[in-house]
Amino acid sequence: FDDHGRLSISDPDTEKALRMATEIIKKPGGVVGFPTETVYGLGGSSLSTESVKAIYAAKHRPADNPLISHISSIDQLKRRLLIPGQKIPAVYEGLIEKFWPGPLTIIMPIEDENKSPISPCVRANQPTFTVRMPVHPIARALIAMSDLPLAAPSANASTRPSPTLASHVYHDLKGRIPLILDGGACDVGLESTVIDGTVDPPMLLRPGGIPVEMIRKVGGPFWQKIVIAKKTAGKNEPVKTPGMKYKHYSPTAEVVLFLDCGDGVHSIKKYIKDHHLEAEKIGLLRSEYFADSSKMSGLISLERDLGQTGLDIQKNMFAELREVDELGVDYIFVEGVHEDHEGLAIMNRLTKAASVVVKNDEVTVRGPQ
Ligand code: TXA
Ligand code: MG
Repeated sequence: FDDHGRLSISDPDTEKALRMATEIIKKPGGVVGFPTETVYGLGGSSLSTESVKAIYAAKHRPADNPLISHISSIDQLKRRLLIPGQKIPAVYEGLIEKFWPGPLTIIMPIEDENKSPISPCVRANQPTFTVRMPVHPIARALIAMSDLPLAAPSANASTRPSPTLASHVYHDLKGRIPLILDGGACDVGLESTVIDGTVDPPMLLRPGGIPVEMIRKVGGPFWQKIVIAKKTAGKNEPVKTPGMKYKHYSPTAEVVLFLDCGDGVHSIKKYIKDHHLEAEKIGLLRSEYFADSSKMSGLISLERDLGQTGLDIQKNMFAELREVDELGVDYIFVEGVHEDHEGLAIMNRLTKAASVVVKNDEVTVRGPQ
C-alpha cells in the first residue's frame, strides 16, 4: 500500500493466491484462513449471513460470541459498514490515528438495525459491532481486493490456543475450509486489544496487542479513565465481551501456571512431589526468572524459552503451548509475568489456559476458563 492507500502486488504467486481467496470470499458462505499481525483469522464477508454462519460452524464457535469486522481503509468502513450519516465516534479519533492499521479493535453502535448492512450474526444480535484495520499486508490486500469487510475470529478450533502459523490453522480446521493463505509467523502473536468508548468511563474489554498504558497515554483525558473489565463471567451472566465466559486457549496437556515463585526450582519440585508427578512427562515454558531444567533434578522432560521481553513472550506463547503439547507431554508448567504493559494480555491468556495456578506455593485448582 502506498501513502494514498493504493495497493500494488509485485509477486505473481502472491497475487494468484490472493485472487483465489478473493473468489472464495465473494461467494455466499465462502470462508478462508488468512494471516494478520496478531493471529491467523478465519474470514468471511461481514455482509453475508451465510458466510458468517460458515465461520461459526467451522470453528464450532458458540453463536452468542460476536465477531470483529476487519477493514482495509477508513473509506471502506464508511461505505460498507456504517449507515448513511453515521459517524465514527469522536472519542476514537486520536486512537485510530495512532494505532490503525494495527492491533486495536473498537466498539461502535449499530444506530439502526434495519438499515445496517452488517449481518446480525456478526454481532450476535448485540446493539454494537466491533471493527479493526489490520496492518498485515496480506490481510489488507485480501480485504481491499474483495472490497468486503471480513468478519474474522481467530482461526483455531474453539477452546484451542490461537493460531500464529498457517500450520496451526491447518491442524485445527483441515477439511473444514477450502484455503489458507500462508503469511509466515504472526508478529504480535496474540489478539488485538478490544476497547469500548461508547460508555463513560470507557472499558478495556480484552487486553491485547496494544497495551492499555499506551491507550491512556495517547487517547487524552477520556481514555485516562479506562476501566479494565473483569476476566471471566458466569455461564448465564450477560457480559460486555461474550468471548470472556468460554473455555479458551487450552492445549490437551494440563497447564500449571506458576506465579511469584522466584527461580521456580523449589516450587516446581514441591508441586511434583506433592502431586506424585515424578513419572509424568512435563514440559517447561520459561521466560524471565525460571532456572533451566538441569536444576530440577531430571523431573522436566523438555523445556522452551519464551524469551525475556513482553514482545517475545507474547509472540512465542501460543506457538510453544501447541508445540510442547504436540510432543505429547502430560503437563505444561509455565512461568507467569508481571501484569503490566504486554504482561496484562499475556497473563490474561495464560490464566485462561491454566487449570491450576500456583502462587507462592499455594495451589488453586480452577479448571481451564
Ligand atoms: O487480533 C484479533 O482480534 C483476531 C484477528 C483475527 O484479527 N481476532 C480475534 O477474534 O481475536 P475473536 O473472535 O477470537 O475475538 C473477538 C472478541 C471476542 O472476545 C468477542 O466477544 C469480542 O471480541 N467482541 C466482538 N464483537 C463484540 C461486540 N459487538 N461487543 C462486545 N464484544 C465483542
Ligand atoms: Mg479467539
